Formats: sequence, C-alpha cells, structure tokens
Amino acid sequence: MKHLLSIADLDPQEITSILDTAVSMHEVQDRQVKKLPTLRGRTIINFFFEDSTRTRASFEIAGKWMSADTINLTGKGTSVSKGESLRDTVLTIDAMGVDMMIIRHPASGAPAQIADWVDCSIVNAGDGTHEHPSQALLDAYTLRRALGDLAGRHVAIVGDLTHSRVLRSNLLCLRALGAHVTLVAPPTLMPSGVTSWAAADGFDVSYDLDDVLPRVDAVMMLRVQRERMSGGYFPTAREYAVTYGLTPRRLGLLQDHAVICHPGPMNRGLEISADAADAARSLVLDQVSAGVAVRMSILYHLLAGEGDAQ
Ligand code: CP
Repeated sequence: MKHLLSIADLDPQEITSILDTAVSMHEVQDRQVKKLPTLRGRTIINFFFEDSTRTRASFEIAGKWMSADTINLTGKGTSVSKGESLRDTVLTIDAMGVDMMIIRHPASGAPAQIADWVDCSIVNAGDGTHEHPSQALLDAYTLRRALGDLAGRHVAIVGDLTHSRVLRSNLLCLRALGAHVTLVAPPTLMPSGVTSWAAADGFDVSYDLDDVLPRVDAVMMLRVQRERMSGGYFPTAREYAVTYGLTPRRLGLLQDHAVICHPGPMNRGLEISADAADAARSLVLDQVSAGVAVRMSILYHLLAGEGDAQ
C-alpha cells in the first residue's frame, strides 16, 4: 500500500489490518515514554489547504511518536498565496526528498491528482465533499472497541450528508466490515441519487430520526456544514435541531447499549445537544484519542511495511 486516498481502495482485510495494528499503537499511546523508532529518518509533510484541529494535530503527533520528522505547511504560509500552482508546489516539496505528504484540500480529488504527480506517499486528510479515509478508520476503530465485531451492527449516520466527506468514507468502511447502515437527513441535505446508490450498495435511507434511533447500536451525528452551502435550502437552525438534532428527548429513544459518535467539530445545540455530546455513552473524545493510534497505524502501513513494528 503506497497511498491512502479512498476507503474504496482497501479491502476488508486491509481495513482490519490497519485497525488491528492500531490496537498495538494505542498501547504505545498509553505508555509514559511513547516514542517508537519505526520511522526514524523519514520525513512527513502535513500540507493543509483547509483548517483542521484533530486531523492535523493527530497526524503530527502520530509521526513524532514514530520518530519521523514532521513539518506542517498551510496554503496561506507558502508560495501558493503568490499564485504558484498546486502542481508546482507539490513537485517542489517532493523534490526535497520527503517520504509522505498528508493533504487536506477543498477540491474533491486533489490528493489523487497529487499522487499522480509525485513520487512520495500521499494520504488524503479530507478532500472537498469526497472522502476522509483516516476519519472513517478511526471511527470504525472506536466503534469496534465499544461494540465488538461490527458485522451485523446497525449504525445510523445522521446530518448534512450532501456535503459530508466523512459520510462517504464511513459508508464504505462500515459496509466493508459488514455493518448495516441507515442514512438519515432532511430531504434537502440527502445526497442526490441516494435511492439508487442505496440499492446498489446495500444501505437504508430514512427521513425520520425518531423511527430509526430505537433500532441502532450507534448513531453518528455529522456536522451541518453551513460554510459549504450557497443556496437557501437549509432548514433554519431551530427547525433542524428540532427535526434532526440529537436532543435530550431523542437520547431516551436509544437502546441502553447504543453509543453516540461525532467526528467533530460539533455544532452544539444544532446537530447535537450538550446532553448528547457529554453523555456517558458519547464516544466523541474516544474518537479523538483513537485518531492518534489509527494514524500511527496508517503511517506504519504506508511507510514501514509488514514486520517492521517495534
Ligand atoms: N474530524 C475532523 O476532520 O476534524 P478537523 O477538521 O478538526 O481535522
């Protein structure tokens, strides 16, 4: 495996291998001295053309804990702001002999295009509305820790699904692991063509959150991405919170064992209430913690190869 561009490029065995290695990495994370020598001498560039807290910080921590040299770049502080093209910019970085670029970009498909141009490994850290594969892997890891084997488990993915790259990667990942997925959104925020997509890929679609919640093992609330909405089709914030938010009343519809996820950043009071975000069954901070371990595992699989873990 040279690049991580899409969950669609991974088979179930490869997904499971990344999750299993992350279990060992989580043990490293819990140690007092966290450094592994595995990636000593390797150089990783975090190149983020969009803002990030969790993904950028956890990839940087993951690289440092594996002894790689990690450097952070953003579009703003580089010659991109002087008009240099994306191709010239990444070829410039590649010519310095780096081993990996971790790319977040507002354009869907940018990391895959960059992978065609450069020699180093490319990790997609979120591209437009397309995919966010490392998020889906850490979500699967977190759900697997909470629920065990995900085969046959029922996960509802709820929210602004039209604009969500997390949805696309999670749907692929959860289906590959045998989970049953139901998408829930207002009609205006459901991806177009969802009915034929659902028929082809074997998931369910619902517009009624109250009907779905009592039947799920996990509910994944996704952020309302108002920054990606140019039309006037978004329900008002109050309408949205009442009809599709995980309110205190809706918490009572969940089965006792059911858990709550949100990839962050959260709009508290919109898609998720404070009661839900901070509930004992909320895995929001477990997801953040798993992000480091899973990203260590991704770096290991792409840069170290089998049998090199120490
Ligand atoms: N979940 C996620 O991608 O968060 P950041 O935008 O903070 O990286």
